[in-house]
Amino acid sequence: MSKFAKLDLGDKIIELPIIEGSENEKGLDISKLRSETGYISYDPGYGNTGSCSSAITYIDGEKGILRYRGIPIEEFNREKPDFLETAYLLIFGKLPNKTELDEYKVLVGNNEHLHEAMKHHFEGFPTTAPPMAMLSSMINTMSCFHPELLERGENEGYCMTASSLLLSKIRTIAAYAYRQSRGMPSIYPIPSLDYAANFLHLMFSLPNKRYEVDPDIEDAMNLIFILHADHEQNCSTSTVRMVGSSQANLFASCSAGVCALWGPLHGGANLAVIKMLEEIHKGDISAEKCIEMAKDKDNPFKLMGFGHRVYKNYDPRARILKKAGDKVLAKLKVKDPLLDIAKKLEEAALKDPYFVERKLFPNVDFYSGIIMRAIGIPTNMFTVLFSIGRLPGWIAQWREQVKTPGVKISRPRQIYTGENKRSYIPMKDRK
Ligand code: CMC
Repeated sequence: MSKFAKLDLGDKIIELPIIEGSENEKGLDISKLRSETGYISYDPGYGNTGSCSSAITYIDGEKGILRYRGIPIEEFNREKPDFLETAYLLIFGKLPNKTELDEYKVLVGNNEHLHEAMKHHFEGFPTTAPPMAMLSSMINTMSCFHPELLERGENEGYCMTASSLLLSKIRTIAAYAYRQSRGMPSIYPIPSLDYAANFLHLMFSLPNKRYEVDPDIEDAMNLIFILHADHEQNCSTSTVRMVGSSQANLFASCSAGVCALWGPLHGGANLAVIKMLEEIHKGDISAEKCIEMAKDKDNPFKLMGFGHRVYKNYDPRARILKKAGDKVLAKLKVKDPLLDIAKKLEEAALKDPYFVERKLFPNVDFYSGIIMRAIGIPTNMFTVLFSIGRLPGWIAQWREQVKTPGVKISRPRQIYTGENKRSYIPMKDRK
């Protein structure tokens, strides 16, 4: 039976349908609000706005729950699936059987190389070019080389081809962006390596010296990709959907997603955390002093890697990464003072009333950078790795949107606060 909420506008009462998700999340359907009342909803930052319904990822921020297609994130840590298996699950909605996964891996393997003409694009970038700028441009450039994928398709065949191509080439592009900045010669992927191992090879091998991939480091890399794979309607995913809603192609939509992820309040936070920890270390600033600075509204300092729009509890990904960080550093016999500082900051923040009252906990970016740094990933590549991880989510959400009948172009409204009607003043009459 349909349920309704009543909205009393003084001169008029209307009924708003209540919609309910499979985990009992409730929403008010206001799609007829303006046509029936002349009012719009006002929600800057969209903290109270559901832009779509989705069956991909579930988060309960109050309880610190994250599930991909219903499977708790902790199980991905325990079972250690390959990143491509997780990508398959997110994009196609089911865990692949062995044949399906093997076939998908072959497709990804067949797409590893970049067109030679695409490789020349890298030479046009200065060595100081931010890798995120290169990544977003090159994802869009890919559309020039695959006109057959510009027609938007939601069927399984289209998505197999497009997703395997994007997942494969983003890895090669990311590694080439790094190599370009270091003046390193390009190198070819090794088809026998799994996704994460191949990425490490593409980053660090030299033509005359192959990088030996340590299985524990490969596991950590795989885990980082998986933990970032989707996070429902975050800023970059909403951007992908926003661009996709104009019926733009998958490359354009994902390229826009990379740009949205770049900012320090979103994916760029992993880089900002390390910069912050380095400054704290250099300045020998105590955890208590940092907490005071973060609380001071006149001080622009923020505790990067802390707080989240949705989580009002410990981010489950941060919990997993904290443990993984200890393991990686022990394996590599690295004693990173930044990890000690991070742990002290966390301890001080979690007992400070400011952080407790606002429910600010470490998020995914707080510990991921320490692991990537230990592996030898340069800081300006951190958000690029986040992008690789997030790509399956973007593709899955784009596909879900394309498959949904009757999706409208995303076009929010505004409350106009500018000048009322006035006349144009010719230049000669202006003061
Ligand atoms: N340090 C100090 N104070 C904070 C922090 C922080 N990191 N985060 C939030 N607050 C305060 C904020 O000042 C506000 O205080 P008040 O109520 O007195 O005005 C209150 O907590 C609520 O914060 P908000 O900014 O209104 O919350 P939001 O949902 O708009 O922003 C956030 C969420 C993640 C942008 C924010 O917590 C933040 O800037 N954190 C640091 C950057 C970061 O780590 N980003 C990564 C997010 S997780 C991964 C991802 O999405 O990519």
